[in-house]
Amino acid sequence: MTNSPKRVLSGIQPTGDSFQLGNYLGAVKNWVSMQDENDAFYCVVDLHSLTVDSDPKLLRKRTLTSIAQLLALGLDPNRCTLFVQSHVAAHNQLGWIMECMTGFGEASRMTQFKDKSSKNGADRTVVGLFTYPMLMAADILLYQSDYVPVGEDQRQHVELTRDLAGRFNSKYGMTFIVPEPYIMKEGAKIYDLADPTSKMSKSSSSPAGVIELLDAPEVNAKKIKSAVTDTGREVIFDEKNKAGISNLLTIHSALSGKTISELENEFSGKGYGDFKGAVAEVVVEYFRPVRDTVQELLADTTYLNSVLKLGADKAAAVADKTIAATYEALGLIARG
Ligand code: TRP
Repeated sequence: MTNSPKRVLSGIQPTGDSFQLGNYLGAVKNWVSMQDENDAFYCVVDLHSLTVDSDPKLLRKRTLTSIAQLLALGLDPNRCTLFVQSHVAAHNQLGWIMECMTGFGEASRMTQFKDKSSKNGADRTVVGLFTYPMLMAADILLYQSDYVPVGEDQRQHVELTRDLAGRFNSKYGMTFIVPEPYIMKEGAKIYDLADPTSKMSKSSSSPAGVIELLDAPEVNAKKIKSAVTDTGREVIFDEKNKAGISNLLTIHSALSGKTISELENEFSGKGYGDFKGAVAEVVVEYFRPVRDTVQELLADTTYLNSVLKLGADKAAAVADKTIAATYEALGLIARG
């Protein structure tokens, strides 16, 4: 077996004004570490975010801020291909073909679609939400990806992608690599600071429980210092009885690199107040330079545009080849 680098592709939606701690620890941190040993393609999936009602000004701002955050958090446009989905028209071209390969029943079984559409009701659910997984399949298959790093919640979409690739290949001849999901470790699963039994996420009930990377340091320090904890006084990892403290230990450990038991020792005999202060400092200091860099990048539109162009050119070169092969396999005649 050769050790040639594996192609990986992943995407992140430009929703929200800032990434959250959960996005970073669950996804982006892995993206950064995967960029060296792999041929990595990362895209900000702006087209996917049109499935929820969006405001043009906000979308523009959030897409640029997403790119700036990915750069500030450590993606290097010369070591990976970082691009915006809508810059590469092939995503829509292959998206349609994937829609034509997918059964209506098969698409109806996607749990994310079922959850979202039942929450909002049929009249407020756009067709794009139904075809979302086929556009995601296109994102992946266009780049002949070997691995797709995603969270567990996206596994079903990657399984669908595998089915579609296999189906296309057996019907029209070998055209796509059948990708494997690379489920990112739940090792650093982060919980809501205000409700440490539920996941820290966009859908959290109150902003007090969620760390937004780009928030002011004081705001984040305050959220951590106000995190819900139990009435005990010992800083030990015990998810059942001390969900709040365990969550703060996880956060500290993920960012400081210290192990949980090192932290338990360090804080033995000290109260929750001291410990929370230390966690606040770790979080604030970790993201302070990120926040500063994001501001600088957003002010430097020339540089940001050059990154976007480089990414789009590199991505399109690969994607357009796949489209040509796909059209040929399907019998769509060449333009001449
Ligand atoms: N659906 C993914 C999410 O919400 C985002 C996404 C879009 C994606 N296209 C992708 C992830 C391709 C991996 C590969 O998290």
